[in-house]
Amino acid sequence: MTTRRLVLSRSAALIGAASTGLLLPQIARAQGAKVRVGLMLPYTGTFAQLGVAIENGFRMALDEQGGKLGGREIEWFKVDDESEPAKGVENANKLVQRDKVDVLVGTVHSGVQMGIQRVVRDSGTLSLIPNAGVHAATRALCAPNVFRTSFSNSQPTRALGQAMVAKGHKKAVWITWKYAAGDEAFEGFKESYTAAGGTIVKELGLPFPNVEFQALLTEIASLKPDAVACFFAGGGAAKFIRDYAAAGLKGKIPLYGSGFLTEGVLDAAGPAADGIITTMHYSDSLDTPRNRKFRLDYAKTFRMQPDVYAVQGYDTGLLLVQGANAVKGDLSAKPALYKAMEGAVIDSPRGKWTMSKSHNPVQDIYLRQVENKENKVIGVAAKALADSGAGCKMG
Ligand code: PHB
Repeated sequence: MTTRRLVLSRSAALIGAASTGLLLPQIARAQGAKVRVGLMLPYTGTFAQLGVAIENGFRMALDEQGGKLGGREIEWFKVDDESEPAKGVENANKLVQRDKVDVLVGTVHSGVQMGIQRVVRDSGTLSLIPNAGVHAATRALCAPNVFRTSFSNSQPTRALGQAMVAKGHKKAVWITWKYAAGDEAFEGFKESYTAAGGTIVKELGLPFPNVEFQALLTEIASLKPDAVACFFAGGGAAKFIRDYAAAGLKGKIPLYGSGFLTEGVLDAAGPAADGIITTMHYSDSLDTPRNRKFRLDYAKTFRMQPDVYAVQGYDTGLLLVQGANAVKGDLSAKPALYKAMEGAVIDSPRGKWTMSKSHNPVQDIYLRQVENKENKVIGVAAKALADSGAGCKMG
């Protein structure tokens, strides 16, 4: 009886409130309900430290706004996606269906991203990709509500082949984890290397996230190419660099890679990483006031050095701030929100970049070399490089 009376009197109050308009969700939002921000990132497994760096960078950008988005407080939701593609849809739905987030920030692994893409294309939830480079997300499966702040998988390696041939390395072996990120990085490498006159003598691979490199390194030793190029990242990259040196290949067959190979792993890899040349849309040593200030602030706040993942997380925050400010925090004003994000110029530690029509960064790619635990810039491998966006139809 008591419960029923309570329910009745509460619903009477609700009807009263609704008739004065107080309960209309859009008004409640615009007037200051919290923005629901969902993070779907790997916090365990070989990409765990990538997830942490992305979250750190993202929070730093929002903290610079007093921890608010378009004037509204933030409520945070987090899911560890474990870089497990089989759980991608289920994990994305935890944030979209259960937590009803206004924006989903994630993720690192290309296979998991495909799960997110399925969910957000159905729900229309704003989706910001702070790493995963899977081509489909900004090509055939692009969508007005999906924006990538990182790279497409073939973008960094599209600048690598030319640089290797210019150093006189005309015969190369390619090695990677066999999944979308490795396969699509190969696409960029193959195109640039063969266009510059290089020959790929062998493609080697192993399943993600295996790190039993020994047999493959023995094969490389017997193939005796001029150079090796690769895609690895996170914990697996640190082990690959150490194993490459331990197998006696360092100093004999120069090692090149998509720049993820040497991001966030230079302490773990130690001197085995010295001399590795890579291409990437960021470099620790970019000597600009913007990068110097970012690195100092990040190191002070988190007591560790930032890497490309921290920069991508930070830029994701900068993009969301620009969008949220343009609509005064009302993220349900979608056309205006998307328009502001499409036109945004991101003043990033990597250098200024803009969004392509398919919502992927148009950005410079640097040539870097590891020296004393730092990725030092040794040149610009490509200016304002855009992904093709092939097959993307918005709308
Ligand atoms: C990806 O799976 O798209 C991926 C993962 C780690 C990286 C880069 C790309 O460092």
